[in-house]
Amino acid sequence: MTESLEGVALVTGGGSGIARETALLLGAAGARVAVADIDPDAAQRTVEAIAAADGNAAMFEIDVADADAVQRMVSIVESDLGPVDYLVNLAGSFDTAPLAEISDDLWTKTLSVHLNGTFYTCRAILPGMAERGRGAVVNTSSIFALRGQAEAAHYAAAKGAVIGFSKSIAREVAPSGVRVNVVAPGPVDTPFFARGMSGDALDQVRRERARIIPLGRIGRADEIAPVILFLLGRGAAHMTGQVIPVEGGEMMR
Ligand SMILES: NC(=O)c1ccc[n+]([C@@H]2O[C@H](COP(=O)([O-])OP(=O)(O)OC[C@H]3O[C@@H](n4cnc5c(N)ncnc54)[C@H](O)[C@@H]3O)[C@@H](O)[C@H]2O)c1
Repeated sequence: MTESLEGVALVTGGGSGIARETALLLGAAGARVAVADIDPDAAQRTVEAIAAADGNAAMFEIDVADADAVQRMVSIVESDLGPVDYLVNLAGSFDTAPLAEISDDLWTKTLSVHLNGTFYTCRAILPGMAERGRGAVVNTSSIFALRGQAEAAHYAAAKGAVIGFSKSIAREVAPSGVRVNVVAPGPVDTPFFARGMSGDALDQVRRERARIIPLGRIGRADEIAPVILFLLGRGAAHMTGQVIPVEGGEMMR
């Protein structure tokens, strides 16, 4: 069965990587997609790609770490496209640093984007979903939150908090039928993973990370997007509050 999604989907970070692939897939599944990103040119390219495939999308420039801006954006999305039925939080970036070098700024910035950003969109959208008795959310964690990662304590802390937050709101809105799940990718070949590296240096990092992955390679963005589509759709109608690792078996025990 090909999953079809009717209604409006808001995808943060939609200009690149996993979120871009997700926005394309949701557009192809029939959703009207609000592509939200701090980089308006990248988001616009995703919108054009969705339109080129006969989908329906619009671009919204947003810094998800800005609470007021998120609230304003959600109002505009809802008046332009309609109430949001599907929310996917993928926006984010981070810089690695050993513990002693995690500055207050880096700590705050990382939590602001990954945790606060997720909180702001959920706070703006979930009460409406619950009132309408319809909607699904996918938030994004990381296997770094599940197993820890050297030089990423700030990022793992933010992604771990996303899990506790998501399970809590999942319980809160469950009586209305609204579902909240979390995807926890392993390494995925995107600009986020590459962090400015290219060529042989990037290949070397890919190989190093692949060594501990049973499936023998890092993931691709188009291998995470279908899991998100599944979690949003009817096939996952009896799933909420779950954390789904997509990591080539790295976390298998
Ligand atoms: N790629 C990986 O290895 C990996 C692994 C685990 C989890 N994740 C998570 O998946 C999500 C997507 O990562 P990706 O690899 O697709 O990254 P990416 O760099 O390809 O895309 C991230 C997008 O988010 C946007 N963005 C960054 N900060 C923003 C902000 N403050 N407001 C709005 N937009 C912002 C960027 O402009 C970019 O378009 C992130 O939450 C990341 O933490 C990624």
